[in-house]
Formats: sequence, structure tokens, C-alpha cells
Amino acid sequence: MKRVFSGVQPTGNIHLGNYLGALRQFVELQEENECVYCIVDEHAITVPQDPKELKKHILDVAALYLAVGVDPKKSIVFVQSQVSGHAELGWILNCCANTGELFRMTQFKAKSAGKESVGAGLLTYPVLMAADILLYDTDIVPVGNDQKQHIELTRDLAIRVNSKYGETFVVPDGRFLKSGARVMSLDDPTSKMSKSAPNEHSRISLLDEPGKIKKSIMKATTDSEGIIKFDIDNKPGVSNLLSIYNALSGKSIEELEKFYEGQGYGNLKKDLVEVVTEAMAPIQERYKDIRESSELIDILNDGAERANAIAEKTMKRVRERFGLGL
Ligand code: AQP
Repeated sequence: MKRVFSGVQPTGNIHLGNYLGALRQFVELQEENECVYCIVDEHAITVPQDPKELKKHILDVAALYLAVGVDPKKSIVFVQSQVSGHAELGWILNCCANTGELFRMTQFKAKSAGKESVGAGLLTYPVLMAADILLYDTDIVPVGNDQKQHIELTRDLAIRVNSKYGETFVVPDGRFLKSGARVMSLDDPTSKMSKSAPNEHSRISLLDEPGKIKKSIMKATTDSEGIIKFDIDNKPGVSNLLSIYNALSGKSIEELEKFYEGQGYGNLKKDLVEVVTEAMAPIQERYKDIRESSELIDILNDGAERANAIAEKTMKRVRERFGLGL
């Protein structure tokens, strides 16, 4: 059995990008692997958060994990801050990373752009992400394409430590899907769909009501050509809608292009509203029950205990290799 690890930040409601890029993989992988799925709350505080909102979002994201099909009997589901090894290993790896490689991270550049000063955590959070992964001797990391650079850093740090201190970490591989690995924003299809983008119609959250889904899709930016064709460079908006349609319906892009030949964007959008609404309905129904159930906290506490047992073994090895403690 391979070990799988991944996480989502509780920075807002999970959107279609998180779902199609990462969460769908979580469910698929749990059938044949030992999976560890985390709600990475320590990552969320790299930008200011309202503590009350953060606590609520932790439970929202946990309930959504379960609602999309993550099974706590098969997978470990827990909250990052409940396992202290993440922060400890994060610090140790910070001492192995170079500032140059962190300043080169495109997500850091994007989130710090135009700001005179940003929190140091925004620069070092890819190291914490490396710690999250390496703590569990992870083989496979299912994520969206935007995380490719962070997975590379994780691999580099693991190899660096292994060659300096002796075999310490498993060197993990990222797992990226062909379809849905990079869902773009609906209002600006040249940037990725994101939880924290100011325009709520730039994304579809898994908990959006049908009316909001309809409004967001019908307003989605396309182009003035009126031709339904997949061409990311010249038609990013239409290509994004086709990608979402393909990922949720299983219909191939070629099939969709052929079906919508000669039709306007209105028909494509109307049908996509139906496809998305139908896909979200069962998730939303399950979510409601799970979020209201007192079992959710028990599942997360049990998950933290199981995660901690694995993490402590790794931390013992790491402390020993680095010569820390008595
Ligand atoms: N647009 C996307 N398309 C495909 N996959 C995506 N992911 C994120 N956006 C897309 C994948 O979702 C997982 C969880 O992401 P995250 O919450 O840890 O952080 P993020 O990548 O920073 O996501 P957001 O939504 O953009 O959050 P904010 O706005 O708070 O920064 C990851 O596997 C990611 O690849």
C-alpha cells in the first residue's frame, strides 16, 4: 500500500477547482492506498483570518471532505494544528531551505505582488507544506497543477536532508489529473479559480445554491467569436467552461465541440448550469447532515490521534538524525 497525503486550507468554502483538482482524487485514491487528509489551518493564518470564521471554516471543510466521499473508516481525516509535528518539522526544514528558492515561488510572488511588506509565513509556507507531506512518509500527493512548484520544493528538501543526514524522508511524487487540474476563474479565465478572490461570481463553491451557480456561469467571461472550441491560448473562457463540463460529465472535449457546433455560448452555459447543479446536489445534501452531526468532531479527534501516531515516529527519526534533544 502506498501512503497518500494532501490538504486543503480552511480559507473559505471549497470551490470547483479544489474539488476537480484535488478532492476527487482523494476519494479515488482511498480505495487502494493508506490516505491521510488534512485541513491545513496553520497554512490559513499566513494571511489574516477572523478566528471565529476560521474555526467555522475548519468544520465546513471537514464536512465537505466527507460529503464528497472521503470515508473516515478508510482514510485519516484531521486538522493540522492538532498534530504538533507539522510545526516542529516545518521549523527544522526552514533551517534546510534557502531564501532564494522561496522567493522564486510563483504563489509567493502572486500573493505578495504590490505589497510593501507581507508576513514571513507567506514566504515560508511552502516549507510547512513540505513538512506536512514528509511527516507521513508520503508516496503520493494528489493536488492541482498550481502546486507543482511546491511539490518540487518538497522533493528537493527531502533529497537534501537524505544526502546530508542519511536516509530520513520518503521522496514523494505529485499526482495531477489530466482533466480539472487547473480550473480557471469565471470572470478572468487567465487566473486560477480561488477561494479568496474578491468577486464571488469568479468561482463556484460546492455549497452554492442553484441560483448562484446559474448567475456565475451565465456571467462567465467568454469572447466575441461565438465559436465553441477548446483553445486555451486564444479562447481561455470557453476552454475553461468546456474543461469543467468535461470533468463533471465525462463527455470528451471533442464530443462537446461537435455537439455545440454552430450553437452560441448561451446554450453551452445553460447546459453547464444543469451539469454543475446536478453534480453539486448530492454533495450538498450529504454536507447538511454531516455538518450538523456531533460525529464530525469525534471523527477529527480520532483522525488526529491516528495521524499523530505516524507523525511521532517520523519526528523521533528526524530529531535523532539532526542531533536534537538528549
Ligand atoms: N483553480 C484550481 N484548479 C484546480 N485545483 C485547484 N486547487 C486550488 N485551486 C485550484 C487545488 O486545491 C487544493 C487545495 O488548495 P488550497 O485550499 O490548499 O489552496 P490554494 O491552492 O491556494 O486554493 P485557493 O482556492 O486558491 O485558496 P486561497 O484563495 O485561499 O489561496 C490544492 O491541491 C490545489 O492544488
